[in-house]
Amino acid sequence: MDYKLLAKQVEALDDEGSNVVGFLANVSALLFEQMSDVSWVGFYLWDAKSNTLQLGPFQGKVACMRIPWGSGVCGTAAQRDKVQVVPDVHAFPGHIACDSASRSELVLPLHDGEGRVNGVLDLDSTSPARFTKDDAEGLALTCSVLERIGIMG
Ligand code: SME
Repeated sequence: MDYKLLAKQVEALDDEGSNVVGFLANVSALLFEQMSDVSWVGFYLWDAKSNTLQLGPFQGKVACMRIPWGSGVCGTAAQRDKVQVVPDVHAFPGHIACDSASRSELVLPLHDGEGRVNGVLDLDSTSPARFTKDDAEGLALTCSVLERIGIMG
């Protein structure tokens, strides 16, 4: 997977003043289209009022609407500000199973302009150990683009 090219394609989707929902919807569509063996890809965005991650734009099956900060793979990535590469979701304490067929997962934290985590990019696969450190590093380029263009606030 050419992650540098993917990040460039993400950057090219931006037109000045893009609305957040439309832009992130296109980013999830692009990732879903380009990446093999991915069953779900999308965003959870922090909601200050409820201190939960709320479902944002995504591609894939119907998913959980809210994830408490610190819960599941997404909430853990957000709370610890640390990428989570999970080769076996059944072995991850507190994993939230939106799709029972999901076997492995990759979650990257996203930051606002002041460096605070305010969302995550989440990818699932029905194959075990689908995601590697290389995927995490490669997708970090896309996350950097989202942060740099200011779509994350
Ligand atoms: N498995 C995630 C929940 C979101 S779904 O994968 C779309 C978690 O444990 O945080």
